[in-house]
Amino acid sequence: MSEHGAPLGPIEKSSVHTAGGMRVGATILGAGMALPRTVFTNADLEKLIDTTDDWIQQRTGIRERRVARREYGETTASLGARALQAALDDAGMRPTDLDQIVVATTTPDMPTPATACQIAAMLGAGTIAGFDLNAACSGFVFALNTVDALIRSGVARNVGVVGSDLITRYVDYTNRGRGTSILFGDGAGAFVIAGSDDPDRGVLARAMHTDGSRWPDLFIPRVEEDYPPDFDHEGHGVDINCLHMNGRAVFKFAVSTFSDLIQETLDKVGLRPEDVDHYVCHQSNKRILDAARERFGLPEEKLHINIDRYGNTVAASVGLCFTELKNAGRVRPGQLVMFLGFGAGLTWGSSLWRL
Ligand code: COA
Repeated sequence: MSEHGAPLGPIEKSSVHTAGGMRVGATILGAGMALPRTVFTNADLEKLIDTTDDWIQQRTGIRERRVARREYGETTASLGARALQAALDDAGMRPTDLDQIVVATTTPDMPTPATACQIAAMLGAGTIAGFDLNAACSGFVFALNTVDALIRSGVARNVGVVGSDLITRYVDYTNRGRGTSILFGDGAGAFVIAGSDDPDRGVLARAMHTDGSRWPDLFIPRVEEDYPPDFDHEGHGVDINCLHMNGRAVFKFAVSTFSDLIQETLDKVGLRPEDVDHYVCHQSNKRILDAARERFGLPEEKLHINIDRYGNTVAASVGLCFTELKNAGRVRPGQLVMFLGFGAGLTWGSSLWRL
């Protein structure tokens, strides 16, 4: 057994345990990611809208993003399934070893079935518990907290956690949408999380917040009646099925909330910023991430940034970031990792793990 306790291996579905008084922990056994094959650069955007590569890079840090295409079979479910299969491969497990799949998504392919059901079928996971969760860009972090609690309470044992979003379906690639089209990209990230016999592994501290009064700052209307009564249509018009964002308001919210969220989470367990090995953050804007890094005096290698290559991928971003860190050999058992997200809702949340 390692210093921090050996992960429990795959189990038969029939033997999903009940806690029965025994304290268990949770551990991330595998991580994986999947990206659409089409790369959409700032130069590509320059051809569609009134913008420049310089403007986008200076304001956001983004150079390119991926855009899913149906003709390649790229859907929210198929990208999620590819990411989860990669996470299972990383963990050395089979789809049939899972007893639950939880998918964080804002852009399911259909209102029903849940994306988790489609992914279970695509992977051949058999009859398992599967459901979706929508907390926009905070979704993956909310899912991590949910799954840790399910495992610790004995409800689940081996869980596939997926963040998959095809947000570019809702992006307006005309000048009216130039405040959003520059930011967003498609992708999927996934973890396999399992019960551990070491109760000190898993979530040490968490925070989950929603300020519902701020929903008009970021929303996708389905019908005209969805608009808030006092919505300023100036420059927007009525764009059904398009992402509406008050960029300046969200930016201000994010800069202050992000730092406060880190401090709130550290305070819950009496840690200092430098005690955490990795901050794995939702990638919304490089300036927002840099502001948080500077406030806490963190070195660049502790706060991973990949927004330059993928843009803002909504619920996928945290899984994408962690998978890249893991694939680079930079995560080890026993390390402390703080996962952070914020987004539409408005929602914001953290999940501090001992790996
Ligand atoms: N290219 C060039 N100019 C653009 C542009 C584009 N793509 N988009 C907007 N502009 C213009 C505006 O029209 C405005 O012009 P004006 O001064 O003549 O009115 C000017 O640039 C500044 O616009 P503003 O919206 O204030 O820019 P900004 O510095 O706030 O940057 C965002 C815009 C969207 C990059 C920034 O607000 C942001 O990142 N917000 C947070 C968004 C976010 O994180 N959302 C997801 C949360 S999960």
